[in-house]
Amino acid sequence: MTAGPTIPRRGVITESMSDYLGSHPGLKYVFFGGKGGVGKTVMAGATALWAAEQGRRTLLASTNPVHSLSGLLDQNVFGKHTPVSGVPKLWAYEIDTRETIERSKREIREKIQWFLKFAEISTKADEFVESATMNPAFEESAMFENMIDLMFKNEYDIYVFDTAPTANARRLLGMSKVYSLWVNKMLKSREEAQSLRQMLSFSKKKEEDPLMDYLVDFQKRMAHARELLTDEQRTAFFFVTLPEALPIAVITRFINWFHEFGIPVGGVIVNMRIDRSMVGADSAEFVRNRLTMQDEHMETIWDLFDGQVRAIVPLFETEVRGVAMLRRLAQAVFAAAAPAAPAG
Ligand SMILES: Nc1ncnc2c1ncn2[C@@H]1O[C@H](COP(=O)(O)OP(=O)(O)OP(=O)(O)O)[C@@H](O)[C@H]1O
Ligand SMILES: [Mg+2]
Repeated sequence: MTAGPTIPRRGVITESMSDYLGSHPGLKYVFFGGKGGVGKTVMAGATALWAAEQGRRTLLASTNPVHSLSGLLDQNVFGKHTPVSGVPKLWAYEIDTRETIERSKREIREKIQWFLKFAEISTKADEFVESATMNPAFEESAMFENMIDLMFKNEYDIYVFDTAPTANARRLLGMSKVYSLWVNKMLKSREEAQSLRQMLSFSKKKEEDPLMDYLVDFQKRMAHARELLTDEQRTAFFFVTLPEALPIAVITRFINWFHEFGIPVGGVIVNMRIDRSMVGADSAEFVRNRLTMQDEHMETIWDLFDGQVRAIVPLFETEVRGVAMLRRLAQAVFAAAAPAAPAG
């Protein structure tokens, strides 16, 4: 951090990406959110590469059902923590979504079966399992749980997640207070029911109650997740946008949600900005028009996110693929001196 108050100057990055990471040395969980196709995966890749090259044990992980890390890195990282060739201290990992969901289904089935037996209901568990698991929200929360398991294991110095489970994090964290009340109520009535059963039975030994164990455990895990995900020394969500209307609208909405729920917003990364020095009067009209359009949307960006813009990344002549290209992107994202937006 710079000493003294920073006087915001419009059109200038006051705290760059590397400033932010420098002033948050305990940062451990980094997420990227934004509209489809804006560059979340490449930003996650560049950030993970940068962290690893700073000497931190880094995991670049994808919890998306549609993975793109193997494509980004040009190597297969599906299903297990895989060392990234040529980058010591960097591992990448695409979670096997199918396997995760199957496992969650098995667990749910066991719980439902146990409960039906406990409640002496003679229905087959299958129907319940079907209705509990045949919806996208189930898959989403299975992936969310998988992500927090990864976080709890604590095997790395820093975790960079490709694609923030934005809606999910918001929903879960937003609900978690209500949810806590609910679980407490459930627990209380379970305890009462249990002591009643014990009183009625001759045996005084405590009955085992997997459902209650599960509720207690689940509540603990959610509380822990909430604690980690709302700690601004440990967690940051960065939002990627293009200098275009729709991606700006999307992150505006996300950022508002996140503030509402106390989830730390690390800042905004503007991607695919056309390099002005490459455009002249003789450039194609198409390119000149796009630059003008970008200039206009940059104004909106400064209006909305002044003080939160951490990097402005140029549009490269090719897609971002492979470690060498990622390194080049990381340079642009973490350039110590943030490029001031050209005046005019
Ligand atoms: N600054 C850039 N210059 C050139 N190409 C870029 C730049 N940033 C990203 N790209 C390319 O744009 C495409 C989209 O990027 P990326 O896959 O990271 O987006 P995403 O937000 O993760 O997309 P999705 O929502 O589908 O997951 C990729 O082909 C990537 O290589
Ligand atoms: Mg992606």
